[in-house]
Amino acid sequence: MSERWIADRMHNIDASGIRKVFDLAANMKDPINLSIGQPHFDTPDEVKESLFDAVRDGKNAYSQTQGIAPLREKLEARVAAEFGHADRQLFITSGTSGALMLTLSALVNPGDEVIVFDPYFVMYKHLTAMSGGKVVLIDTYPDFKIDVEKVRNAITDRTKLILFNSPSNPTGTVASAEEMKALAELAREKDVALLSDEIYRSFCYDDEFVSPAKWNEDTIVIDGFSKSHSMTGWRCGVVHGPAHVMQQMTKLQQFTFVCAPHPVQWAALSGR
Ligand SMILES: Cc1ncc(COP(=O)(O)O)c(C=O)c1O
Repeated sequence: MSERWIADRMHNIDASGIRKVFDLAANMKDPINLSIGQPHFDTPDEVKESLFDAVRDGKNAYSQTQGIAPLREKLEARVAAEFGHADRQLFITSGTSGALMLTLSALVNPGDEVIVFDPYFVMYKHLTAMSGGKVVLIDTYPDFKIDVEKVRNAITDRTKLILFNSPSNPTGTVASAEEMKALAELAREKDVALLSDEIYRSFCYDDEFVSPAKWNEDTIVIDGFSKSHSMTGWRCGVVHGPAHVMQQMTKLQQFTFVCAPHPVQWAALSGR
């Protein structure tokens, strides 16, 4: 075996920081692992029961690539009620991570720039690297607010995508409606794609959650059941956005993930 076997793109993924922390923790007594976003509650009983039922009922084969119709229809109704966008299409993914990977693969060309707000969810950087893109960081310290003028100044001819996440991992910050409106309108003005990672939308405690898709109907929204239903190990998510983008992403899902785990989709349907 030689080093030649490893593709160049793997060298763009630097996991050395995480490895260093795990090595350090290995030598500590009872370290607390804050790196994994595991909910504070267990999977609800009715969701567990629905999974057992689905497996017993033989829902174990591949599902349609875009996911089972009843789950899609339930989520489509919710999305239509929230946004009412005529061109919005939705499909079920292998976790929010699956949706993220499909979005970046479908949109980012080698050399394209992807705007990410710092501090950010660790996967953004690595998935951008996998697609050959370059992360352009927008500093949000010390209050983690979004300064849209900074984003405007960072946009170049190569900017393809803005990756936005509220409530945010790792800070827990919820962006204000004004910040989101300004960001959504800037993305539209500059013809840059906007991806809104809404996996923590059900963890808004003060005000109701608002999505930037409210102000930009081309926003690609990703969400999932990992956090809201404590199903992190079950791998079920959802993405919705402009039909022509969703069609490209579904094509890629067909030849990569194939579908989200079939019995898990029935379990997801039983949840809130
Ligand atoms: C901001 C953010 N996006 C996406 C994910 C991935 O979630 P999933 O389990 O649905 O792939 C996580 C998980 O921690 C996250 O924190």
